Amino acid sequence: MAQIEKIEKDISDLKIKWSDGEESKFNYMWLRDNCPTAHDKDSHHRMFNILDVSKDLSIKDFKVDEAGSLQVQWSEGDHTSYYDPSWLRKNCYTLKNKSKYVSPYSLWNKDLKNEFDLICIEHDEILDTDEGLIKWLELLHHKGIAIVKNAPVEKKSAFPLLNRISHIRETFFKTPFEVINIPKPNNSAYTAHALRNHMDLPWFELPPGYQFLHCLVNSANGGDSSAVDGFAVAEYLKNNENEIFETLINIPLKFRDMDYTQESHRNFHAPAISLTKDGDFHDIRFSVATMDVLDCHPDVMEKVYKAHHRFGNLLHDEKFQVNFRLGPGDIYSFNNRRILHGRTAFDPNSGHRHLQGYYMDRDEIIGRLNYLKK
Ligand code: OGA
Ligand code: ZN
Repeated sequence: MAQIEKIEKDISDLKIKWSDGEESKFNYMWLRDNCPTAHDKDSHHRMFNILDVSKDLSIKDFKVDEAGSLQVQWSEGDHTSYYDPSWLRKNCYTLKNKSKYVSPYSLWNKDLKNEFDLICIEHDEILDTDEGLIKWLELLHHKGIAIVKNAPVEKKSAFPLLNRISHIRETFFKTPFEVINIPKPNNSAYTAHALRNHMDLPWFELPPGYQFLHCLVNSANGGDSSAVDGFAVAEYLKNNENEIFETLINIPLKFRDMDYTQESHRNFHAPAISLTKDGDFHDIRFSVATMDVLDCHPDVMEKVYKAHHRFGNLLHDEKFQVNFRLGPGDIYSFNNRRILHGRTAFDPNSGHRHLQGYYMDRDEIIGRLNYLKK
């Protein structure tokens, strides 16, 4: 553990030199805001209010005491703060900003098919062990896809498994939603038609982060599944066709819910690809079926359509796609804002096909994984 070797003070920061040669800057407002006494011990909510100090807050005195803690006496509020050096080092934003960002995502293409067993996991392993649950969550977070094998095939029987993670994201499609062909369908999923690669519900401000398609019966001819890693396609465009990539991240498209059973008109503008604060991929929004009449500026409509066209074609390119067939007891689980999914048409007269679908927010997957790994 590095020790504090030297401290210097300037008008807005303390500069710490550590015994291993690293240097950190700690801003006065930041230090005051993060005084260890600032938080309630039970709720962990901040009770101290930074708005109660003036913008000219400064330091009257500082030292490293016998216990090795940094003591800071503030210019106002008659308060002294005591910081553990290991806490300072762990939360040092100088070093954090110096380190290279490492993406949690492992991107994949058609070659995933060669190691398909690596993304398959036994239902009971998840239900019975934390190791199984962690493995499932890691697949969902890092690869964006996992197939749960040997789940029960009774209706609604995926709840105990999903509740190992957390609660469900409810929508008007109800939980589970029934993927079965019905007369006068309100959604093209509820037909026997092919579904081109798509995400579900892109017209929500926040489309569901994850989707779980639980196969109960799949005995009809056809109805094979597909998956494509939208982040991998985005990465390809970023590296090879940058103008198209820039259009996709910068110009919002419009999506709309056209469900005739709804007494609600939901729509949302968002770009086809959005990025995180680190420039990593955050979301893909792609669905030919529910893209609305676009209303982009006339000067950019041509390039928006060319970019959409190129992106859509790559999202169906066999170089990027894996094809597989769900069997009874499989749960096709995936990041709905990264992985595009589809199916081939099936013949409803040749047999029966029934999937039950569930959604969950991305926070639930990542939050649970963070907790279990801690
Ligand atoms: C859906 C869907 C896939 C399938 O319900 O949104 O994409 O295999 N279904 O039926
Ligand atoms: Zn779908």
